[in-house]
Parts: sequence; structure tokens; C-alpha cells
Amino acid sequence: MTRYHHLIIALHWLLALGIIFSLLAGTFMLAETPNSDPGKMNGLAIHMGIGIAILLLTLVRLVTRLRTGAPAPLDASKAMQNKMAGAVHILLYVGVIVMGASGIAMAQAVDLGGIVFFGSGNPLPENFDDLLPRSVHGLAAKGLMALIVLHVVAAIYHQHVLKDGIMSRMSFRGK
Ligand code: HEM
Ligand code: HEM
Repeated sequence: MTRYHHLIIALHWLLALGIIFSLLAGTFMLAETPNSDPGKMNGLAIHMGIGIAILLLTLVRLVTRLRTGAPAPLDASKAMQNKMAGAVHILLYVGVIVMGASGIAMAQAVDLGGIVFFGSGNPLPENFDDLLPRSVHGLAAKGLMALIVLHVVAAIYHQHVLKDGIMSRMSFRGK
């Protein structure tokens, strides 16, 4: 086995796009828009829809990953680095699942599903600031961003400094 399972590779890149988009749009657009803004409803609908899809596809990927395993480490003699990479990968999964679960808990607390998707007719609350899942969602977003930066820097270092062909493990092409 020289690369991850095809489904994992496809989901890795699709989810990378969705997660990075949601982190940036959530931080710089959604959270900056007051709930009184007429465009907020649409922003929430898009964010919640994509967020739930990310959570479900991440669970599909996790099950596939547990069933199909991973290619052997690039350099088995570097036990410490391999352990760290494994730990970062687990934390990336945990971070995404916490984001999805806290988002759903926040929505649940103020019936956002009913307001945004099912036309309950109720107004949005003034803001979400007092909700515990809102704080968890905000903090987990910062943690996940830091982990992604670490993960991407490590991938670039492997690919361009060590030149060990790490990217071919997460792509359909290459040896
Ligand atoms: C866009 C920049 C990204 C690049 C260049 C990148 C690159 C890679 C590479 C090369 C691997 C294979 C590592 C190995 O040899 O084991 C990998 C694995 C992995 N990546 Fe990324 N990645 C990116 C974004 C992300 C994002 C946004 C996430 C999730 C938040 C993520 C989560 C993972 C996980 C969990 C693995 C372990 C394999 C698995 O269980 O699916 N990556 N990544
Ligand atoms: C799983 C992927 C998700 C990511 C990466 C994500 C990301 C974000 C980010 C970065 C913020 C802004 C946080 C801040 O600056 O404090 C945010 C806010 C928010 N997210 Fe998510 N989210 C996800 C899933 C969800 C889900 C599934 C829901 C609901 C069903 C949701 C509902 C919300 C709400 C209501 C806000 C608050 C907006 C405000 O304060 O006005 N999110 N999200």
C-alpha cells in the first residue's frame, strides 16, 4: 500500500476545501454580520448546510480510514515524528467533529433549524453570544486553524525540503 484508500483521498481534498472555506467565511463574514442584517439568514443557511455535510462526510472518512488503514510510515526510523503526525491527524478529526457537534448544539438551543430551513416564522435571537456551544465553536475554530497550519507546513516541508514524495500518498497520481 503506497497511498491512502481512494475514497479517503477524494474526501481529504473535498473536505479540505470545505473546512478552510467554512473557517474563513465563519470568522470573517458570518460572525461579523449582526443577526439583524437581512443577509444573515442566507449566510446561516449556507454555513449550516455546508457544516452538516462536512460533519457527515468526515464520519464516512473516519469509518473508511479505520477499515482500510494507512500506508506504512515514510521513514520508520523516525518514531517520534511519526507519532506526532499521527497525533495531529487524530486531533484534526476531533477538531472537525467538535466544530460540527457544537454548531448543531448551538442551532438546537435556539431552534435555528426551524428558523433558517423550515420557515417557523420566529425571528433570530439578538446574537448567539450567551450560548456555551457558541464559545466552544469559536474556540475550537481557532484550535483547528492552528492544527491545519501545522499540518500544511509539515506537508510542504516533506514535499519540498525532504523531497520524500509525501503528496503522492494523498493523490491519485505518482508512484
Ligand atoms: C490544503 C492543504 C493540505 C495539504 C497540502 C494536506 C496534505 C496532506 C498529506 C500529504 C497527507 C498524507 C500524510 C501521510 O503521509 O500520512 C495528509 C493526511 C491527512 N490530512 Fe491533510 N492536507 C491539507 C489539508 C487538510 C485539512 C484542512 C484537514 C482537516 C481538517 C486535513 C486532515 C488530514 C488527515 C486527518 C490526514 C490523515 C489521513 C486521514 O486519516 O485521512 N488535511 N494531508
Ligand atoms: C464542521 C464544520 C464547521 C466549521 C469549520 C465552522 C466554522 C465556524 C466559524 C469559524 C465560525 C466563527 C467563529 C468565531 O469567529 O467565533 C462559526 C460560527 C457559527 N457557526 Fe459554524 N462551523 C461549522 C459547522 C457548523 C454547523 C454544523 C452549524 C449549525 C448547524 C454551525 C453554526 C454556526 C453558527 C450559528 C455560528 C455563529 C455565527 C454568529 O456568531 O453570528 N456551524 N462557524
